[in-house]
Amino acid sequence: LPPLLSSVIKGPSLLPIIQADTPHEAVAIAKAMQDGGIGSVEVVLRTRQALAAITAIRTALPDLLVGAGTVLSANDAKACKNAGAQFLVSPASTPTLLEAMINTGLPLAPGVATPSEVALAYEFGLRELKLFPAHLSGGIEMLKALSGVFQQVKFCPTGGVSQTNLAQFLALPNVFVAGGSWMSPSVMVKAQQWHQITALAADATAIANTTKS
Ligand code: 3PG
Repeated sequence: LPPLLSSVIKGPSLLPIIQADTPHEAVAIAKAMQDGGIGSVEVVLRTRQALAAITAIRTALPDLLVGAGTVLSANDAKACKNAGAQFLVSPASTPTLLEAMINTGLPLAPGVATPSEVALAYEFGLRELKLFPAHLSGGIEMLKALSGVFQQVKFCPTGGVSQTNLAQFLALPNVFVAGGSWMSPSVMVKAQQWHQITALAADATAIANTTKS
């Protein structure tokens, strides 16, 4: 199995999402986040230039850990590795997708939303998973319920995580990192409000460093 994602995460226990239309925009967002204390980012495969964005951030900001999110297929997993992604995140888990992600050798956090999906990933030997969509699948109470039965599994909640509930999520012993898009609202990206993104990242970093360290 690849190394655990928790063993490679840099900086605070946060995985902010970067959704960028161009590599240039991606680097600007990543730089703004890094200026706020972020050490690891997830570039989502939801724009045409997402792979180029991963490569651009790796080159421009070598101290950041850069992963790929919204990995949906075996081809996505391979393409992300070739683009320089240092870890893989998916919103869902199927046997085919899990196998392909594991075969890249990259740390991974495949998405789950039910006990059966946790059990599927568990059968593959995986012990770090993404809970998605975290809020809609039960949020804090869901994570507490999962901790009782899957005692060795840790989660990255994403989907509905925000500045207001971040501390509650990170305080859970079975949460190793929290992710989401709240640090780079698309309105701020469009308006190139990099200082505001840095401020949101700094707020989240402060919460993460007091809750988990
Ligand atoms: C993801 O890809 O993890 C989600 O889109 C994050 O959800 P959010 O936008 O509610 O943070």
